[in-house]
Amino acid sequence: MGGLQGRRVVLGVSGGIAAYKAVEVCRRLMDAGAYVMPVMTRGATHMVGPTTFSALASEPVRMSLWDAPEPIPHTRLGQTADLVLVAPATARVIGCYANGISNDLLTATLLATRAPVVLVPAMHTEMWEQPAVQLNLDLLRSRGVTIVPPGVGRLAGGDVGAGRMAEPADIVAVASEILAPQDLAGLTVLVTAGGTREPIDPVRFVGNRSSGKQGHALAAEAAARGADVVLVTTTNQPVPPGTDVVCVETAAEMEDAVLDRAAGADVVLMAAAVADFRPKAPAPDKIKKNEGIPEIVLEPTTDILAELGRRRRPGQTLVGFAAETGDVRAYASSKLRAKGLDLVVANDVSAPDVGFEHDTNRVLVLGPDGFEIEGSLMDKRAVARLVLDAVIDRRTSGEGKQKK
Ligand code: C5P
Repeated sequence: MGGLQGRRVVLGVSGGIAAYKAVEVCRRLMDAGAYVMPVMTRGATHMVGPTTFSALASEPVRMSLWDAPEPIPHTRLGQTADLVLVAPATARVIGCYANGISNDLLTATLLATRAPVVLVPAMHTEMWEQPAVQLNLDLLRSRGVTIVPPGVGRLAGGDVGAGRMAEPADIVAVASEILAPQDLAGLTVLVTAGGTREPIDPVRFVGNRSSGKQGHALAAEAAARGADVVLVTTTNQPVPPGTDVVCVETAAEMEDAVLDRAAGADVVLMAAAVADFRPKAPAPDKIKKNEGIPEIVLEPTTDILAELGRRRRPGQTLVGFAAETGDVRAYASSKLRAKGLDLVVANDVSAPDVGFEHDTNRVLVLGPDGFEIEGSLMDKRAVARLVLDAVIDRRTSGEGKQKK
């Protein structure tokens, strides 16, 4: 979670049964490198012990306006925070915040901060659906507060319905997105994702194992860092809000979509696994089994990346991907040179937990002039962060040599 590293987060915990899940939120924030300042309401202390948060967070838990060592904790916390995250947020805390009421340390902190605020409501369905609660949330949204909505599931007392707090991993991901550096603001990033399908006949195709997960993670990370993102994809993986999505299937469709849009892009990330060959003459009708074994003649597709290299406009950063087996480093550096790239991101797809279909990846990023980053095994969003850090590095300082 790059956005959280070294950032100061007030973690407000109010009195819903989901307070026990806030312990996990606290731990994940700490794991992501945040400095966590926990604040509990009186109600929350009935659900989970303050010592738990004190033991996990960066500072002891605070619960009162009056008994903290510093004289004015309500303003200090809010002023020094980079983010105030309230999980769970009860109807009372939401109501107080929406209406400017400060009646404990948490609501005072919410009113005293200029940092972004994230509320994660959790309550019984009847309360969640109460128009007064929804109106308060609408009001807060209109003021720029981020609301992470609850899901449907088991609630306190064995009831089932809407109002169950969002999952800790999702809450921390939202916090990380909000704090992500806006170092790609003003840039247009074109990303390709997924494997192309080249028809043999209307039913069959030549394809590959690319899931599109890495390309979509790159798009999500670029969007979180302020870029205008154009995503040309063959898959229906989730897409970050605000992304301009173009769905394609074949290498030829991808070529049209990419070459059309590349002229306006500052950064091109060719993460898609584009077929190198396609059937020369796809059959217009399904090839019948009883007609014997067909001979399928292949022809080369356009190498889109090489074409982009030829058409590259000044200041454009071109990044290629290399899914290899064997001597990954040697293949990657020859690709870097042959296609005139600024960076090549290579992975050994034969290694366990790496590349196609997995949620994790381990990459070697190479640039001309000895630039090199060797990543460890990490999730694909973290790989996206590493790749975009390398792009920024190339666009600013030019050269570097580091290990991550
Ligand atoms: O040379 P190779 O095809 O292995 O290079 C892989 C890189 O080139 C990837 O970034 C891939 O998206 C891109 N590529 C392309 N057009 C092709 C084949 C690959 O842009 N026809």
